[in-house]
Amino acid sequence: MAEVKLERRGSVAVITLDNPPVNALSVATLTGLAQRVTAGLADPAIKAFVLTGAGKIFVGGADIREFGKPRPAEAPTLSQLIETIENASAPFVAAINGAAAGGGLELALGCHARIASPGARLGLPEVKLGLLPGAGGTQRLPRLTGVEAALDMIVSGELKPAEAALALGIVDAVAAGDVVAAAVAHAEKLAAAGKPPQRTRDLGGKIEAAKAKPELFANYRKETARRFRGYEAPQRCIDCVEAAATLPFAEGLKAERAAFLERVGSEQSKAQRHVFFAEREVAKIPDVPADTPTLPIKAAAVIGCGTMGGGIAMNFANAGIPVTVVESTKEALERGLSIIGKNYAATAAKGRLSQADMQKRLGLIKGTLAYEDIKAADIVIEAVFEEMDIKKETFRKLDALVKPAAILATNTSTLDVDEIAAVTKRPVKVIGTHFFSPANVMRLLENVRGRKSSKETIATVMALSRRIGKIGVLVGVCDGFVGNRMLAAYTRQANALILEGALPHEVDKVIYDFGFPMGPFAMGDLAGLDVSWRIRKRRQAEGKDNYPGYVVGDRLCEMGRFGQKTGQGWFRYEAGSRTPLSDPLVEATILKASAELGLKRRKIAAEEILERCMYPLINEGAKILDEGLALRSSDIDIIWINGYGFPAYRGGPMFYADRVGLAKILQVMRRLEEQHGEILRPAPLLERLAREGKGFGEP
Ligand SMILES: NC(=O)c1ccc[n+]([C@@H]2O[C@H](COP(=O)([O-])OP(=O)(O)OC[C@H]3O[C@@H](n4cnc5c(N)ncnc54)[C@H](O)[C@@H]3O)[C@@H](O)[C@H]2O)c1
Repeated sequence: MAEVKLERRGSVAVITLDNPPVNALSVATLTGLAQRVTAGLADPAIKAFVLTGAGKIFVGGADIREFGKPRPAEAPTLSQLIETIENASAPFVAAINGAAAGGGLELALGCHARIASPGARLGLPEVKLGLLPGAGGTQRLPRLTGVEAALDMIVSGELKPAEAALALGIVDAVAAGDVVAAAVAHAEKLAAAGKPPQRTRDLGGKIEAAKAKPELFANYRKETARRFRGYEAPQRCIDCVEAAATLPFAEGLKAERAAFLERVGSEQSKAQRHVFFAEREVAKIPDVPADTPTLPIKAAAVIGCGTMGGGIAMNFANAGIPVTVVESTKEALERGLSIIGKNYAATAAKGRLSQADMQKRLGLIKGTLAYEDIKAADIVIEAVFEEMDIKKETFRKLDALVKPAAILATNTSTLDVDEIAAVTKRPVKVIGTHFFSPANVMRLLENVRGRKSSKETIATVMALSRRIGKIGVLVGVCDGFVGNRMLAAYTRQANALILEGALPHEVDKVIYDFGFPMGPFAMGDLAGLDVSWRIRKRRQAEGKDNYPGYVVGDRLCEMGRFGQKTGQGWFRYEAGSRTPLSDPLVEATILKASAELGLKRRKIAAEEILERCMYPLINEGAKILDEGLALRSSDIDIIWINGYGFPAYRGGPMFYADRVGLAKILQVMRRLEEQHGEILRPAPLLERLAREGKGFGEP
């Protein structure tokens, strides 16, 4: 329950916000704060004020759960409150005891001085929700830091440690001891000086410098457009900082207010707020309550130190967990460990990791050829070749050797986790942990719940995901799990489109313009075309799939064109470059394949390309929900944003589908089913929701 306390320390009133867990500025907190401020200002015995937060946080920001909800007309706004504080004749000092984020920092900027504790972090992360600071942050921050530093902070949304904030001029001091006591002393000093308190709005010096550099904003816009391609909010943040530098304070504030209101109502911000909540939702598993006991993970092991195993081992070391990697040959082990070493060295060379930290992490990774060395591990993650027989043999061996309490996880991307679990005597302790490549970079982790995986195993792996810096999403066992199963539906259509008349660069452009970092063909070249080619051949041999639409991809592989690693695939690449260039040979191969299949090529419009790629992907997502293989549609959104580059400002495929309207998607899917057959049949869930006029977000 929100509470705001006022406590007297001599002539100073210490006002403490207490709204756990992050002291968010909810309507109730703001109301309480306004009451305390008004009462304090009316009390002649109070000469100065200190604002602080209870617990470990100053103020985490606005209460975003209240966005878009009606506010009581009499409720004070943060802007009004800041104005009252800034205009007060008694000095206000912010005692920033922990994070001051968003509205929290804006509140502090409205005070006349700021003292931070050493662990505090300060910033304006609104941009990450598609918003911008709406209570004067874009106007006051540049007056303290200068325009360039303010642009960097507001456009990136990153929080700065207290020491950096001191260097930038955001805080007046970093207090080593009791930050509230230091702020009280500072407030007493300001009151005793008898001068009107210094209002941030009146500071002009640092923004003057920007006026002499008119090109600054244009350049910043260009760079930001590259860095945050497709995102609207960063550009609107720049507009506001430019207003701070060029307009009188009151005018700048008005411009910020208008931009903020436009942002709150924007589609992008709605999508980004959805993603914010979806990320928090993934941890909730209905039948595995939050208090489910977990197994302590003190030591880990990884089997196989190839592309994935090496990256997986790095995740453990980065989190401070000792990890042993097991390889089958000395050469493979040396190669794997040397790649890990090179990866760390590259990060250190970029200044993102100190030599000492690098050595510490490398020291946590041990290589071995002997399985006996991992007997005591609490979790083993298997990342050997993708072949069922090898996986089974590995799991039998692990089951016999590793302590019975340990969890045995597989990183398989296509094989049946239940079949692997069945060869062990501990199927309750077997689970899939499907990392994405590069495993030390990609945030997504699909945790694959086997039929017998216990609640403890699931809870342990979900908690471990967070500990190693991943977003763990729980999925069920099926071919390709959630992400790759949907990917297959998408790449299949991309391949069909090129046989019907489009060219790879045309398809890729549509997907790139939609907001993905690259289209399906450039992605194939990056991942290596031989990987899916081998899987296709295996599936064909098993009689599982004989779809003829991959004929061009097969032929490219037969020519040895495996993508970027061979310098040519769907595109050609000049030496040392990753820029895809169209290749007449590929075009000729496509035209020949179309002719052989008796297809009359036609011009395909961008809109059709987008619908053909996205709607079947969404339809597959609906089937996955129907089959209970993902817990909620927002989990699918998280998978696609973090594993496949779906633009976060569109909220993920299922959120996007709701914005398009399921009736429209159903209509297109029905047409596609008529034209292409059963594989494109609308999912029953899509049919039902469209009929009921609902969306995936409100089933
Ligand atoms: N590469 C990807 O993008 C990706 C993504 C997700 C999942 N996966 C899955 O991860 C697993 C590993 O894939 P990868 O790309 O790292 O393969 P890889 O070929 O790069 O590495 C496999 C490593 O396992 C070693 N190995 C094989 N048998 C072994 C054994 N019995 N004991 C110890 N080591 C053994 C090999 O020497 C090799 O170094 C596969 O199941 C794959 O499907 C791969």
